[in-house]
Amino acid sequence: MPQTFAFDIYGTLIDTAGVTRSLATMVGDQATLFSSRWRDKQLEYSFRRGLMRDYVDFSVCTRQALEFTSAQLNLPISDTAAQALLDEYRRLPAFVDVPTALQQLKSAGHRLYAFSNGLPDDLEALLETAGIRHAFVDIVSVHEIRTFKPDPAVYRHFLTRSGATADGCCLVSSNPFDLLGGKAIGMRTAWIRRSDANHFDPWDRRPDLTFASLSELQQAFSE
Ligand code: LAC
Repeated sequence: MPQTFAFDIYGTLIDTAGVTRSLATMVGDQATLFSSRWRDKQLEYSFRRGLMRDYVDFSVCTRQALEFTSAQLNLPISDTAAQALLDEYRRLPAFVDVPTALQQLKSAGHRLYAFSNGLPDDLEALLETAGIRHAFVDIVSVHEIRTFKPDPAVYRHFLTRSGATADGCCLVSSNPFDLLGGKAIGMRTAWIRRSDANHFDPWDRRPDLTFASLSELQQAFSE
């Protein structure tokens, strides 16, 4: 049965560790640590902003998290280098299995949406550069309602925008916090667990489906 998919973007379709190579030229062998701390801080800022009802757009969370990470790890980055990293954040690569899997899901008649914390313009640029924009019916950004995942309002907003019912659509994400957010309002959920090192939060809800890659998900929905 053709259905509606809500695809998380950062970390699910787009590889946020894509900046690691540039970081390596700035902070050497601390690049992997830096990249992961930066990502964690970016999300923490979005959670806090959401809770405080003090919305700033996601690119501000990303920029402020970069500044904090640099200070915390005592790895100074010049303003020019910081701007280059932030520019690169709008041109991150898709994970290698993503373009084909999306194309095949689309060809099978499913309705695909990008659903993200990112700014609409940033998402347009990102998905276009990664060569996957054409796979989506539309882009649904939290910016439209000025709060962040996992605020339940964000998931309800997705349903309003897509016209889907909660149990008639599937939220696809690598981020457990995102899936728990969707599950809380009754969405069906698929966890993309790209590495055994990733663990699901031991809360009272589990994802409905778990796949090791987007190709696996695509095969399951083509049968
Ligand atoms: C997003 C973040 C959660 O794309 O990764 O919404």
